[in-house]
Amino acid sequence: MIIKQAEFVKSATKPSQYPEPIFPEIAFAGRSNVGKSSLINALLNRKSLVKTSSKPGCTQLINFFEINQHLFFVDLPGYGYAKVSKKIRAQWGPMVKTYLGSRKTLAGVVLLIDIRREPKKEEFDLTHWLEEKRVPCLTVLTKADKLSKTEQGKRRKLIASAIGREAEDLICFSSKSKIGRETTLNEIDLLVGTGDQAH
Ligand code: GTP
Ligand code: MG
Repeated sequence: MIIKQAEFVKSATKPSQYPEPIFPEIAFAGRSNVGKSSLINALLNRKSLVKTSSKPGCTQLINFFEINQHLFFVDLPGYGYAKVSKKIRAQWGPMVKTYLGSRKTLAGVVLLIDIRREPKKEEFDLTHWLEEKRVPCLTVLTKADKLSKTEQGKRRKLIASAIGREAEDLICFSSKSKIGRETTLNEIDLLVGTGDQAH
């Protein structure tokens, strides 16, 4: 996919606030601070279209972005961050699960896992839940620039076996070095079925 256009559409907490379901959607999910918003900026070649922060809990709403006038990217708030207020933590589950469970135009979910961390209950639960709902899920390992190539390979194998996937199915990604960018965009193309792959 070649990015020709990318713009913020709107933020939402509940279905009545979602944009009209006129395009297929790709949602980005994962632990707080894993690098979801940074990954979207990197895919779109934009420095700060999506707000990012070194402090976890930055994205607290469901944010919709229109891409190439034929697709929405959806930046989700992260889970698993203990320091956000109880109220926000209690909202995360229903807000995100309502979205993931009810959005008819959802073409796939990109699940982000920090390459240095072990997948935990939240990742297992989310993977199983998406499988049950038959939502295709692409797994991306973020912050790969923090590790050597050899370490990246080792971590990829370990994480893949922990979540019951093949190592080759997991993409090592860095929003700093941009490794994995083309592969991720091509996989998204396959999910959306545009057949518009980068060469
Ligand atoms: P929430 O909105 O809180 O759920 O977090 P998020 O998953 O959107 O994370 P965000 O993109 O805001 O990034 C969190 C922090 O990680 C920021 O300080 C980023 O600069 C840093 N970060 C993100 N991606 C990378 C990466 O590929 N490499 C490195 N070294 N740092 C990264
Ligand atoms: Mg974010």
